[in-house]
Amino acid sequence: MLLPRFPATRFQGSKRKILPELAELLHAEPCNSIIDLYSGSGIVSLLFRFMGKRVLANDYLRYNQNTARLFLSHTAEDFKGLTAEADLAYLLNHRESTFKSTVAEAFAGIYFKDAENLEIDNFCQNIQGFSGFKKALYTYAVGQALIKKRPYNLFHRANLDMRLKDVKRSFGNAKTWETATQVHALKCIQELARFPSPEGQAHQALRVDTANLAPLPVDYDVVYLDPPYMNDKSVPVNYSNFYHFLEGLCDYSLFQHGDARYPHRPIVNLGSPWHKKASALDNIGAICRHFSQSRLVMSYRSDGTPTPAEIQAAMQACGRQVEIRTVRGYQYALSKNTGNEEIFIVAR
Ligand SMILES: C[S@@+](CC[C@H](N)C(=O)[O-])C[C@H]1O[C@@H](n2cnc3c(N)ncnc32)[C@H](O)[C@@H]1O
Repeated sequence: MLLPRFPATRFQGSKRKILPELAELLHAEPCNSIIDLYSGSGIVSLLFRFMGKRVLANDYLRYNQNTARLFLSHTAEDFKGLTAEADLAYLLNHRESTFKSTVAEAFAGIYFKDAENLEIDNFCQNIQGFSGFKKALYTYAVGQALIKKRPYNLFHRANLDMRLKDVKRSFGNAKTWETATQVHALKCIQELARFPSPEGQAHQALRVDTANLAPLPVDYDVVYLDPPYMNDKSVPVNYSNFYHFLEGLCDYSLFQHGDARYPHRPIVNLGSPWHKKASALDNIGAICRHFSQSRLVMSYRSDGTPTPAEIQAAMQACGRQVEIRTVRGYQYALSKNTGNEEIFIVAR
């Protein structure tokens, strides 16, 4: 299947690079409807929409839900006559007499320069006057811009000084960090505008913590799982900690509640079954049982914790037939597991 160019993303663990392989796998696994249970950057949901599936995206972070909703609903019509440059200039710079400097005060010297923090305050207050497509689009675009302007593209450390130090760097990209939020955001909008948006299908984007699956519908043909990665030393990727700051773009009041016990002042701090081995395996069992009518397709890495063999056993214990293959389509030999390879685990 020939795929169009998907919008760029610096989201940690994005599956953008393996979209062709995922598309190929789903061709062999015919289905009309699919859940993207851990949608992250939204790029996989966008692929499923492009493939003509009815899609339900889910992620427990607000910003990711906003992106998925945008990716599953935008149309070419929405971009016609859009004055993105002027809208962004207004959103990032306009200041009402009732202006509040919540971010500038609470996050001074932590992630962004003072003037950049004030832009974020402006944005969060001005975006309240927008709704629907435009609100979702500008929130997405400004969030992507902020990710690009961060060392490591994350919000897990109070390390603005890394950007400001006048040293020769062997990492990062000083030019990208110093590029204006508006410039990054506009580029991001232009990329999405170029992406085709097929008609039809009623998609949705939810924000459900998979620790409690009850709110999720059970009548989808396939459930695609790309949970947070835990490495072979059981060190998890904590997405809530990595991206908490973006939650404030979706709910400005959160910026008032940064946790001052930590230098990086997280504004949300969510646990996940995927932060510990035992709860991850329990979650796999719960997912198999909840979606008993659905086939499961899981993206995983061969050196992950739990191991692929442990995940296979947990799925088999729920009566599933399990096939593990490499992303390139080869049979994956559990016994020869060395290195760190992207794999698919399919449970029928
Ligand atoms: C590996 S990322 C998904 C990446 C995505 N497939 C992509 O291509 O961008 C895992 C996602 O799971 C979400 N997540 C973690 N724990 C969760 C939970 N308990 N319930 C729902 N979402 C969760 C995180 O917010 C993160 O966005």
